Amino acid sequence: MKEKIKALEARVDEALAEVKSGEGLKDFFAKYLGRTGSITALMKEMGNYPKEERPIIGKLINSFRDSVQARFKALEERIAAEELAAKYASEQVDITMPARRTTRGAIHPTNLVRAKLCEVFIGMGFKVYEGREVEDDYHNFTALNTPKDHPARDKQDTFYIAEDVMLRTHTSPGQIHCLETMKPPFKVVMPGRVFRCDDDATHTPMFHQIEGLVIDKNLSLCDLQGLLDTLAKAMFTPETKTRFRPSYFPFTEPSVEVDVSCCECGGVGCRLCKGTGWIEILGGGVVNRRVIENCGLNPDEWSGLAFGAGLDRIAMLKYGINNIHILYDGDQSILRQFRK
Ligand code: PHE
Repeated sequence: MKEKIKALEARVDEALAEVKSGEGLKDFFAKYLGRTGSITALMKEMGNYPKEERPIIGKLINSFRDSVQARFKALEERIAAEELAAKYASEQVDITMPARRTTRGAIHPTNLVRAKLCEVFIGMGFKVYEGREVEDDYHNFTALNTPKDHPARDKQDTFYIAEDVMLRTHTSPGQIHCLETMKPPFKVVMPGRVFRCDDDATHTPMFHQIEGLVIDKNLSLCDLQGLLDTLAKAMFTPETKTRFRPSYFPFTEPSVEVDVSCCECGGVGCRLCKGTGWIEILGGGVVNRRVIENCGLNPDEWSGLAFGAGLDRIAMLKYGINNIHILYDGDQSILRQFRK
């Protein structure tokens, strides 16, 4: 038996030296220490020996098995430590590496103005309504009391899609849609894109307006003045003043153009306001009785206020942009400045 153990010991030495991984450990255990392993098999051979020798042989085998088990355990611990160290090494993070940059978007200046204006009007109880960009002649012109020979109908200004179908030239047709579908009294603002065949430093073929419409009883120009004064102060500064100048639009009577005190010089006069101290920002007026009538309401009972302002123009004034094309070029170096 001593010889057998010796021979097995030599094999165990060799086998242990070859174990390099958790897998190898498993194999070794099965082969030598497991239920069908060679060391366990020695125990079973004990029966072949005379009774009086068995305790001695048992001791020999036991001490051999204990020593192998101890070596096995030590190796197991070493391999586990090595494997963990390798795992840590492979997952190591270089904290001195620069972080990956996330690209953050910015809100376009025209949209900033649009959002701000909507917020101001929602605060005053207005609903926001989006009209349609393709209109028919009736909504874009006729119902707005714009006669066939009016210059606003000039084919050079209007993008026609088909006869009597066009890209809207202003947001005012939204007034008609509201009057046709909403029950008075109501207050709405309608921001959106409008289209005119025009292209120079101050015009682009597509630009943005916001239309406002209030329908109620006994409205007057004074109400419009109060409304637009609130708008101007919220949009520019609380010190901003407004001024009404008489104007003409077929769909309002009386009609006005509204100036705000120059946001650049505060009204003293500078290049931006061409020395006048005032800058025009919108058109408006008391809704023409004919428009109310065209939509089936009684103009003796219902009155209205309307205005239309250029969002791009307000954005240019507010952010000191001197060419409208800058708003449409998509130049990142400019847009990035509007990141919050
Ligand atoms: N629709 C007019 C324009 O585009 C502006 C306007 C709107 C004027 C509402 C009066 C009332 O110039």
